[in-house]
Amino acid sequence: MADAKRILLFGPQGSGKGTQGEKLSEWLKLPLIVTGNIFRHNIKEQTELGVLAKGYINKGELVPDAVTNRMIGERITQEDCAQGFILDGFPRNLVQADALDTYVKITDLMHISIPDDEAVRRIANRRTCVDQGHVYHLVYNPPKQEGICDEDGSALEQRKDDTEESLKKRLGIYHSETEPILDHYRPYGVIHDIDGIASIEEVWQTVQASLQ
Ligand code: AP5
Ligand code: MG
Repeated sequence: MADAKRILLFGPQGSGKGTQGEKLSEWLKLPLIVTGNIFRHNIKEQTELGVLAKGYINKGELVPDAVTNRMIGERITQEDCAQGFILDGFPRNLVQADALDTYVKITDLMHISIPDDEAVRRIANRRTCVDQGHVYHLVYNPPKQEGICDEDGSALEQRKDDTEESLKKRLGIYHSETEPILDHYRPYGVIHDIDGIASIEEVWQTVQASLQ
């Protein structure tokens, strides 16, 4: 690849950021950085960051910007990101978007849209692997073996924040704080609008086509 690609995955809960991110990462051979997965890993390991993040995440609230900005700043300046990266879950508000601008220039923002009622339907049957957060759906994308991750063999579980109450709060924050930052990116000419209401494979074809 001639130029480094620094791609943001953007969209509401259940739009398929994690699902399409796994495919993109494999296709482009770029690291996939998922803020939610980094937090969940730290919660599992009971690190200082994990203890701090846990309360916010389980309630469906955002982890404070100062903590999140520092974490991402450290991650995307590592050696493996020199040729580009795919970022899922950051930025989620204007403070985070401004911080990201001080680190790097984004080349593409994949804006995947779905209505809220579809998010509710998808999240109810989502399962993720405990080790690395690989994403499945009991109906639309089931694992080969029930309860086991195809990629790393670890157990599948339902995320703690995938309750109806927490999802409602997360969608509310998405619409009030995250969606408006599209206006921040519009002048950069990097936004690709993707209709997320289609099969996983069809959305993937659209994502690929928009990057070629
Ligand atoms: P995070 O982990 O990022 O969760 P989220 O934003 O709530 O998004 P989701 O992971 O729920 O949705 P997704 O778009 O990835 O959907 P998926 O591909 O899994 O963040 C969690 C928490 O961490 C936040 O609430 C916050 O507390 C904290 N946090 C994270 N980033 C932060 C930040 N920057 N600042 C502060 N705090 C932060 O798909 C969903 C389901 O649908 C799956 O089961 C999948 O198989 C299925 N599916 C996908 N595509 C399709 C399709 N086309 N058709 C049918 N089914 C599909
Ligand atoms: Mg996700």
